[in-house]
Amino acid sequence: MKKILLLNGPNLNLLGKRDMNHYGTLTLKNIEELVIQEALKFNCDVITYQSNHEGYLIDKIQENREICLGIIINPGALTHYSYAIHDALLDTKLPVIEVHLSDISQREAFRKTSVISDICLKTISGKKEVGYIDAVHVLLEDLKYD
Ligand code: DQA
Repeated sequence: MKKILLLNGPNLNLLGKRDMNHYGTLTLKNIEELVIQEALKFNCDVITYQSNHEGYLIDKIQENREICLGIIINPGALTHYSYAIHDALLDTKLPVIEVHLSDISQREAFRKTSVISDICLKTISGKKEVGYIDAVHVLLEDLKYD
């Protein structure tokens, strides 16, 4: 079965316990399950991975670059400064959708910059878990996958 990669960065393992106004009430496992179910409608499998460590996320991107058709990523705070994640994503040449639970354009100044958005097909921000579902649709529609 075809596959997409769902990556979540630092601190997203604590969803459900973090600020619910920004991030909603669901746990990461709940969100991963939503993505898996949505992708299944397109006969697509999802490889899920979360890490608090930049290098582990990069390893996962590299490992799956030839296996996956596209990537959905919420890099957490790495969004705002990780050129290494930027380059790892770029090197895959895969379509990438960037997701943020909160609206990063309406928060502290440091969150307004994303160093990965220029290489993403789309950035979805501020829709909480619905953003991940939208990302599945954008990705799989782009891949003419339905
Ligand atoms: C986040 C926004 C980031 O600024 C923050 O560091 C996160 C989560 C979001 O999903 O809204 O950890 O990526």
